[in-house]
Amino acid sequence: MNEQTRHETLRVGLGDRSYDIVAGEGILDRAGDLIAPLLPQPRAIVVTDDIVGPLYLDRLSAALERSGIASDAVTLPSGEATKDFSHLEKLIDDLLAARIERGTTVIALGGGVIGDITGFAASIVLRGIPFVQIPTTLLSQVDSSVGGKTGVNTARGKNLVGTFYQPRMVLADMATLDTLPRRQVLAGYAEVAKYGLISDPAFFAWLEKNGAAVCNGNREAQSHAVLTSCATKATIVAEDERENGRRALLNLGHTFGHALEAQTGFGDTLLHGEAVAIGMVMAFNLSVRLGLCPEKDAQRAKAHLEAIGLPVGLDRLDTAGWTADALYGHMTLDKKVADGRITFVLTKGVGKSFMTQDAPRDTVLAVLGEALKQA
Ligand code: NAD
Ligand code: GLY
Repeated sequence: MNEQTRHETLRVGLGDRSYDIVAGEGILDRAGDLIAPLLPQPRAIVVTDDIVGPLYLDRLSAALERSGIASDAVTLPSGEATKDFSHLEKLIDDLLAARIERGTTVIALGGGVIGDITGFAASIVLRGIPFVQIPTTLLSQVDSSVGGKTGVNTARGKNLVGTFYQPRMVLADMATLDTLPRRQVLAGYAEVAKYGLISDPAFFAWLEKNGAAVCNGNREAQSHAVLTSCATKATIVAEDERENGRRALLNLGHTFGHALEAQTGFGDTLLHGEAVAIGMVMAFNLSVRLGLCPEKDAQRAKAHLEAIGLPVGLDRLDTAGWTADALYGHMTLDKKVADGRITFVLTKGVGKSFMTQDAPRDTVLAVLGEALKQA
């Protein structure tokens, strides 16, 4: 622990593309010092959104300037709807209009939407320019800023177009979480709980005791949650950067969740983290129906997410006109479909997830149908 800014550093080990995740408080004001040694030229374009920009852009620009880094900014509208081709095209045009060179660094300042679209733009503009992540949501600090998945949604599905493109550094200033609306904190918490549910039962048990403190802004609890999540993600990414195996476990709840996001049209009706929470409950329910998981583990996962305040079913949504078949149809467009078969992350209990392509369609439809009936 470094006392000056109370931060810790984790390493994502990817050979010559390895990078540090620096997490703690006060890091935004040291961003220039931390990234300056990595920049090919002392110039950066900060990409942010219209909520985060007014809160943190001036501080970041001042920190860059103190380290001799000149910067300009591009501001996108906040929200999931920004993660599409039209905003990508506009972002790339703005970067080119700013006369970027191959040595200019793009800095994503914001949540997962800004991180994903900025990383994608950085990976393709001028055939790739350096990229730094400064995540400002719980979700982006524990998940999306680490690991190099970039992309946009299309009308046909979630994150269907994108690249693997690693950042040069990730700077997670936990003090930025103090301004995050509670709904967004809870949505990020779904991805925190995911790490426990996938493979870390001790962490899940810790979350059952301390999850409320994490969501209520207790910095010590947040710090433990963010660092544990990042450490798990860094290890998995280092082992399986391109998701040929174990990394797919990080998609627990996502096959169901992405279908729900597609059904709601990628707006703010259902946040990504909320969809993941519901999706994880569905994945547990499917596992129970297939005789793989004890009912009590499914109850335990659901009870914790519900106690935290996350949705665990479809009751908060207007599901008029929704059908199990339509939701299943969204799933068939998932990136992990292989030979026409949907890959599900299922579970044998809390902390015991695994992948399978053997979930019978009828059983999946039964899980979806039951959720719709209870909505
Ligand atoms: P987001 O980027 O939309 O941010 C949520 C909201 O919080 C936005 O309105 C934003 O303006 C606001 N905000 C951000 N930081 C703030 C702060 N400090 N104070 C006040 N307001 C703030 O959403 P998100 O939940 O961060 O990210 C969701 C996206 O991440 C989804 O598109 C999802 O697909 C993606 N994702 C990607 C990966 C990956 O590996 N690349 C992993 C998980 C999720
Ligand atoms: N969020 C899933 C992954 O990064 O693989």
